Amino acid sequence: MTLCENSNCVPGFLLCLLFGVLPRVYSETLSLNGKWSLSNSNGSVLLPAEVPGCVHSALQKQGYIQDPYFRFNDVSYRWIAFDNWNYTTTFTVSTQLRSKQKVLLVFDGVDTIASIWLNGIGVGETDNMFQRYAFSVRDVLKDGDNVLKVSFLSPVLYASDQRRAHSAYRVPPDCPPDVQHGECHVNFIRKAQSSFSWDWGPSFPTMGLWRGVRLEAFDVLQLVLLSSVPLYSVSSSQWRVHVELHVDALQTTNGTISLSVPELESELIFQMQFLRGRTKKSFDLHINTSSEVKLWWPNGHGEQPSYLLTVGGFQDGFTILNTETKVYFRTVELVQEPVVGSPGLSFYFRINGKPIFLKGSNWIPAHSFQDRVTPDVLRDLLQSAVDANMNALRVWGGGVYEHDLFYSLCDEMGIMVWQDFMFACAMYPTDEDFLQTVREEVLHQVQRLKSHPSIIIWSGNNENEAALATNWFDIPESEKPTYLTDYVKLYVDNIRGIVQEEDQSRPFLVSSPTNGFESEQEGFVAKNPYDAHYGDTHFYTYTEDCLDWRTFPRTRFASEYGYQSWPSFSTLQPVSIEEDWSYNSPFFEHRQHHDSGNQQMLLQASLHFNLPNATDPHRRFTDTLYITQVMQAQCVKAQTEFYRRSRSEILEGKGGTMGALYWQLNDVWQAPSWSSIAFGGKWKMLHYFAQSFFSALLPVSFEDEGMLFIYAVSDLSHDLKLSAVVSVYDWSALDPVCTRRSESLLIPGGSAAAIFKQRVNPLLGGCGRCSRLTCLLAFHLEDSSGQRGPTNHHFLSSPKDAQGLQRPNITASVQEDKSLLTVTLHSSAVAPFVWLDVGNIPGRFSSNGFLMLSANTTVSFNAWRPTSAAELSKALAITSLADVY
Ligand SMILES: *[C@@H]1O[C@H](CO)[C@@H](O)[C@H](O)[C@H]1NC(C)=O
Ligand SMILES: *[C@@H]1O[C@H](CO)[C@@H](O)[C@H](O)[C@H]1NC(C)=O
Ligand SMILES: *[C@@H]1O[C@H](CO)[C@@H](O)[C@H](O)[C@H]1NC(C)=O
Ligand SMILES: *[C@@H]1O[C@H](CO)[C@@H](O)[C@H](O)[C@H]1NC(C)=O
Ligand SMILES: *[C@@H]1O[C@H](CO)[C@@H](O)[C@H](O)[C@H]1NC(C)=O
Ligand SMILES: *[C@@H]1O[C@H](CO)[C@@H](O)[C@H](O)[C@H]1NC(C)=O
Ligand SMILES: *[C@@H]1O[C@H](CO)[C@@H](O)[C@H](O)[C@H]1NC(C)=O
Repeated sequence: MTLCENSNCVPGFLLCLLFGVLPRVYSETLSLNGKWSLSNSNGSVLLPAEVPGCVHSALQKQGYIQDPYFRFNDVSYRWIAFDNWNYTTTFTVSTQLRSKQKVLLVFDGVDTIASIWLNGIGVGETDNMFQRYAFSVRDVLKDGDNVLKVSFLSPVLYASDQRRAHSAYRVPPDCPPDVQHGECHVNFIRKAQSSFSWDWGPSFPTMGLWRGVRLEAFDVLQLVLLSSVPLYSVSSSQWRVHVELHVDALQTTNGTISLSVPELESELIFQMQFLRGRTKKSFDLHINTSSEVKLWWPNGHGEQPSYLLTVGGFQDGFTILNTETKVYFRTVELVQEPVVGSPGLSFYFRINGKPIFLKGSNWIPAHSFQDRVTPDVLRDLLQSAVDANMNALRVWGGGVYEHDLFYSLCDEMGIMVWQDFMFACAMYPTDEDFLQTVREEVLHQVQRLKSHPSIIIWSGNNENEAALATNWFDIPESEKPTYLTDYVKLYVDNIRGIVQEEDQSRPFLVSSPTNGFESEQEGFVAKNPYDAHYGDTHFYTYTEDCLDWRTFPRTRFASEYGYQSWPSFSTLQPVSIEEDWSYNSPFFEHRQHHDSGNQQMLLQASLHFNLPNATDPHRRFTDTLYITQVMQAQCVKAQTEFYRRSRSEILEGKGGTMGALYWQLNDVWQAPSWSSIAFGGKWKMLHYFAQSFFSALLPVSFEDEGMLFIYAVSDLSHDLKLSAVVSVYDWSALDPVCTRRSESLLIPGGSAAAIFKQRVNPLLGGCGRCSRLTCLLAFHLEDSSGQRGPTNHHFLSSPKDAQGLQRPNITASVQEDKSLLTVTLHSSAVAPFVWLDVGNIPGRFSSNGFLMLSANTTVSFNAWRPTSAAELSKALAITSLADVY
């Protein structure tokens, strides 16, 4: 702490004196992370195991099993989750630690059903992966070796036992669809719901100590938790920081407490008393109005400045509390108001008073085994989100409440987080034991996470309102009231109750999708939670033409939508063998967890593209992977552009769209899915497209009854005078046939407006011999300083019908200049969807999957490990649309 170094030391006079004194050591911590041993129930397996970690990771690390992601191993290793496992460690404690008055054995995460034994004495039990557990163990510790054992029950058997015990009525679904090769009754156990399988992920019902374990010993008192939530008063135009200290005091203690944000010249010093036991104390630190508070903004709207809040506590000249934390100032409102010309309500977020269009995606667990989710994995994925111009991610309710680092990085990068509670696509029991463990989970998570400005909303569950409203589980009408009562009891009476008690600084939604206020009016389960006039929507279609914007609901807020694709060959290769490398192989069937998914991808692709038909089977195979990515990128682009151009328009009561979060950002393993980033971090074509379709300034085209419209979409804060420049190209030539320019138009910041409007036929008629089949359009926005935002394109027919499209014979050369790697491409023809692939060299191109309209193009490669021009050149493979048939 450096309070005294602050120039404004006068109000801190008392502290200045006290800080001269060496603090007496009040607390000690002993980490119990590291090597433990692991055994199964009949003792046939006895191995070392890492903590934090899980049984699967330990078995793999010791060579007892292969990579669980390899080929069909998810099924081969099913037995692991049916066995019971013991984690054991032996440790000694110092006399100093043992002399403390209180010693806690703390688990930051236990997965999931376990009993805990210290020196043969049962000290506690766990039943919820999402809680933090602390057991008082001072009197159980001894000199010399202490033996700590955590004895895990099979989560699969536990879940089915719970189901059996719940005899009164069914709590569906019982089991996942067969195509997922999963386990049953996951809704009866408080662990990651996707760990029993999902439509994008394998069944690995993990067991283990997935976060840290330690002893915490102390005298006098201990700070258990510190939270700080800035709140803004509109009436007084003043900020205050609401600080909560959770303190465990061994005896009633008087102390001097100081709270301070030195940079804002704000400080609070007072005397207070901590009664014996665990208490929560709340304080409001008013921010000095003479200081200008710098606000936290979402990515693309400003910076993410933070301030340091310091907390001190002193008793009789000794430090009893001494900590600091970051505080970020921002406000968030979810606006649901009547809309002019619409029967519904708006649904959008205002950050610091400014309406913000949420651009981003949905986050799922980054690995089946959370111990593999390293800081680098989190950093790379979140940086990739920011690099694609995203400003928001929804942490989806079938996974885990993410690591602290995840939220800290989101704070720093300006990524807004829509945080679900971990309930998804199911009904849940509401017996008292279940509710009790959920209440503790919710309390813990809200207290842990509420200081993060990145979290802008809490949401009770994923799709459970919709599941009930549209009867996914064939519940007879007469039994529906039971489930409605359970629904309200769990998400409203319990979860919402706790959240609103703990955190008034951000909104709470009961479900997603939901009609928001309208759902509440209808008793929390709306007749149609997908109603585009209210709230958010999830929307999927696989058979309808994704390039026809009429396919999509003109929603207020699109929180889920998407299309599947396969990852690149280099992602699949390490977990497969040669016989797997065809689109119809058993392996390809096995990895596809979404019913008919592989056929749907080809069907959607075939609407606009010729399917690959190379005579070489391997070439045809990799070309097919490519074409699924082209299809996915085009489809999600079309849908996202539709949402972005709908932000300022209300048509037939619908529109005013203020969010586009496609499903899904990342992958849990190497498999087909809706993700834009493959497992391992490689960007799919979609992620490169997202970079453009999420850019702050974007031209969007569409046709309506033969009329071509181009909209200028702006997320900027300032107005611009823009014109649209439309170039007509012949598929068979590299130079534009002709170019049209619109009048310039004032585009206000934060709006979308039509900037160019012309019927297609006259446009082409004025352009030589152009027809819909022989020509295509490229367009961009310009102001007086030149092009603003990316170039976009508009196909006038399906690319499969294009006349004149040729194999472009693209050649490439790789250069290296002071560690900057560039690839210069030369093409002899117009080339759509030019895809550069460098196999397993990690990194990304500045642009990829692009439409090449000029003879030469240069892109750079941002390598994520050292590489060279020679290595890159050797690995480089180039595919464009006309190369696959
Ligand atoms: C695991 O721990 C439990 C509980 O102490 C015990 O009953 C069981 O025998 C242990 N199994 C093994 C293999 O150590
Ligand atoms: C012990 O457990 C393992 C794993 O569950 C099982 O494969 C093995 O057959 C069991 N051995 C005996 C002797 O029951
Ligand atoms: C602690 O403070 C309370 C009032 O806050 C006072 O009544 C009490 O005497 C104080 N105790 C000690 C030991 O200073
Ligand atoms: C606010 O800042 C001014 C100027 O530095 C200072 O004089 C005043 O004491 C501060 N007020 C509080 C409540 O910290
Ligand atoms: C590409 O090469 C092929 C085979 O050499 C040739 O037939 C074709 O005309 C070339 N394409 C272009 C656009 O030059
Ligand atoms: C494109 O690059 C080729 C060499 O690859 C060069 O001969 C040609 O002049 C370049 N064309 C343009 C328009 O820059
Ligand atoms: C592949 O399909 C294209 C387009 O339908 C066709 O022109 C071509 O002849 C086919 N090639 C082979 C090898 O079947």
